[in-house]
Amino acid sequence: MVEEGKPEHIAIIMDGNGRWAKQRGLKRTAGHEEGAKVVREITTYCTKVDIKYLTLYAFSTENWNRPKLEVEYLMKLLEKFLKNELETLMKNEIRFKAIGDLSKFSNSLQKTIKEVEEKTLNNKNLTQVLALNYGSKDEIVRAIKKLNEKKLEITEENFESCLDTAGFSNVDLLIRTSGEIRLSNYLLWQNAYAELFFTNTLWPDFNSNELELILEDFKKRQRRFGAL
Ligand code: FPP
Repeated sequence: MVEEGKPEHIAIIMDGNGRWAKQRGLKRTAGHEEGAKVVREITTYCTKVDIKYLTLYAFSTENWNRPKLEVEYLMKLLEKFLKNELETLMKNEIRFKAIGDLSKFSNSLQKTIKEVEEKTLNNKNLTQVLALNYGSKDEIVRAIKKLNEKKLEITEENFESCLDTAGFSNVDLLIRTSGEIRLSNYLLWQNAYAELFFTNTLWPDFNSNELELILEDFKKRQRRFGAL
């Protein structure tokens, strides 16, 4: 924690795009498009309130099971988003990092991700992390393989250094939108002592005003980390 009562690391499960679109008689993809705009708003807000890490669940290892057209749409949206965002990331000194098994993505998307990561590497403000083809169990298994390859002793510290989030602080505040109350294979290790917030708001309707209220509530939480 950098400052008393303020989270250093916020993680968000951005849920409810499909329902948002359905309520309006639109295709599910319209919900994702609107959801991408909210990603932009929340990221900008986090830079203003001095958050260090914002980790967003954009595509899970299970999301491949969605209809082919929706998956294709999400891939295109991600690539477009990354290309369009670069200027804003540079202007606001935001570092971009992807976590997850990126090897399953097209060469073109992998290249774009790498380019944005490299160009923003030295930015010192917020780190925006997108979880892409991410699943916590998958990450843990990959981390164990890395530990093994490096012949490292099994300690919490060494294990953390092999996770995709190596070098980041653990999650202080986890938010899930859309009324679902579960973790869905998201940052299981990193959320060990996170404060959890669930809101009924669908992701495309989420905004910085609601995040501000959640941050106010977070201040009132007593975090004891297992102590008294
Ligand atoms: C959950 O809503 C959302 C996703 C699976 C993808 C998240 C993607 C975005 C917020 C937009 C793209 C992001 C970026 C960074 C460009 P859902 O489809 O599961 O909604 P539902 O539960 O109502 O069906």
